[in-house]
Amino acid sequence: MQAGQDASQEGSPRAVVVDVREVYKIYDTAGHVVKALDGLSLTVEAGRFIAIMGASGSGKSTLLHLVGGLTPPTSGEVIVENKNLAQMSDRARTIFRRRRLGIVFQEYNLLPTLTARENVALPMLVDGKPMRDYEQRVAELLATVRLENRADHRPDALSGGEQQRVAIARALLNDPAILLADEPTGNLDSKQSREIWQLMRQIADEKNKTILMVTHEAQGAAFADEVIILRDGRMIGTLEPKGSADAALVAAGYQELAG
Ligand SMILES: Nc1ncnc2c1ncn2[C@@H]1O[C@H](COP(=O)(O)OP(=O)(O)OP(=O)(O)O)[C@@H](O)[C@H]1O
Ligand SMILES: [Mg+2]
Repeated sequence: MQAGQDASQEGSPRAVVVDVREVYKIYDTAGHVVKALDGLSLTVEAGRFIAIMGASGSGKSTLLHLVGGLTPPTSGEVIVENKNLAQMSDRARTIFRRRRLGIVFQEYNLLPTLTARENVALPMLVDGKPMRDYEQRVAELLATVRLENRADHRPDALSGGEQQRVAIARALLNDPAILLADEPTGNLDSKQSREIWQLMRQIADEKNKTILMVTHEAQGAAFADEVIILRDGRMIGTLEPKGSADAALVAAGYQELAG
């Protein structure tokens, strides 16, 4: 490899951190059967930022829930960081999720009585660890999400975008390998959304996290390395904006594939 070349782009393979193999997720509600995932396979390499798009009901959240070990597949395997989630005990899976995965939802899920700083520290407070051991780390994370001057604000004194940035900082507290985000900008205006997408890109690039982000917006998906498009629980195609933020490219590709 020559000086200045990036190993990740020059053929030396990166580790696969998410390996979804022939996964079916079938819901049977009072005889009404829904194939939320219909034989889906997907691998994601370390440090990649993947966006997941698809119409409502196409299985996007189901896929994230499976990768997060929040729900088991009906059949098939979900392997995260070389661990088969189905073979772990409930307790081991819970600990694995807390230590190795960061999860962000459309709702920010902050505790209203706690400050931004305390909300970021919450996972370790729940673990019974003292705040003073984490003060430096929490300050760094608040700086990462550019909220160093909002540390003592409670959620009701923060904008939606700021609240989501607190939730992202909290998701990073344990230095997880993988960040799962389900429509993180679903409640935000376009300016705040853009800040979140830029932050996701920065977290992938600078902190080397693997990111799976569900979004309905081509503008957001364009910040990802790759876009996966689902329909009826199957992958119908992929796009490669390569972090270009080229929304027109994603919008046109999505239109062609998903119609
Ligand atoms: N707990 C459940 N019980 C029964 N059916 C479910 C359940 N969860 C999801 N489904 C069904 O599975 C399908 C996929 O749902 P999923 O939530 O993954 O869609 P989605 O792509 O995230 O949609 P949206 O964009 O609306 O969030 C839908 O048809 C949904 O109704
Ligand atoms: Mg969803």
